[in-house]
Amino acid sequence: MSDQLRLRPVAEEDLAVIERLTGDPEAVGEQSWHGWFDPRTYRRRWEETGLLTDDGGTLMVAGPAETLGFVQWSRHPTNRVSYCWNIGIGMLPKVRGLGYGTEAQRLLVEYLFAHTQVNRVQAVTEITNTAEQWALSKAGFTREGVLRGYGFRDGGWRDAVMYSVVREDLGKERGDMTVLRPSRRDQNGPRRDG
Ligand SMILES: CC(C)(COP(=O)(O)OP(=O)(O)OC[C@H]1O[C@@H](n2cnc3c(N)ncnc32)[C@H](O)[C@@H]1OP(=O)(O)O)[C@@H](O)C(=O)NCCC(=O)NCCS
Repeated sequence: MSDQLRLRPVAEEDLAVIERLTGDPEAVGEQSWHGWFDPRTYRRRWEETGLLTDDGGTLMVAGPAETLGFVQWSRHPTNRVSYCWNIGIGMLPKVRGLGYGTEAQRLLVEYLFAHTQVNRVQAVTEITNTAEQWALSKAGFTREGVLRGYGFRDGGWRDAVMYSVVREDLGKERGDMTVLRPSRRDQNGPRRDG
């Protein structure tokens, strides 16, 4: 898998993919849909910075023949002098459940530890998002705990789960995974291809 997948900077033609994965409720998925926002946001930021700044960035997840999705990271202060990266991901509906999201997040961690000095990469996902929790576990993240009433979505405050990788985790054998493998039936019926 790792030899098939790579992360690369966002090109102009990728903006349509990012706009779909952030602005089309069907493609975004129920647990990540937070309502409409200015659809030109990504294009404007891309024109200014290429979506790569010292405070965060976006990279496309590319397979041998096609674009599969994108990954993002942003600076999250941890005290007055330090910060960690908070990461996010969106994969195109037709390629979900094939292992690419796991590999993309593993590659992003590798990239961030190689090219920035942070000690910690974290990911927060809604408690019902079992696919992402499983993907993070497979990518080497540790489940740290539940964040109660953390994010507002679709009329209610939702619990979330915090995951992280720190530098000292790299290369370590990991013990038991704390999340059980999800059944696709857990997630609001079958996946929709698209
Ligand atoms: C969450 C997401 C990034 C995971 O990427 P992915 O490529 O689907 O993940 P993987 O295939 O590597 O791993 C997902 C695992 O969950 C399982 N799974 C269960 N329900 C699933 C579902 N509805 N969709 C996808 N995978 C599902 C998969 O089978 C797989 O396990 P397996 O390897 O044991 O078969 C992707 O599904 C996605 O983009 N979802 C919508 C956006 C989102 O939720 N982003 C995260 C916000 S915090």
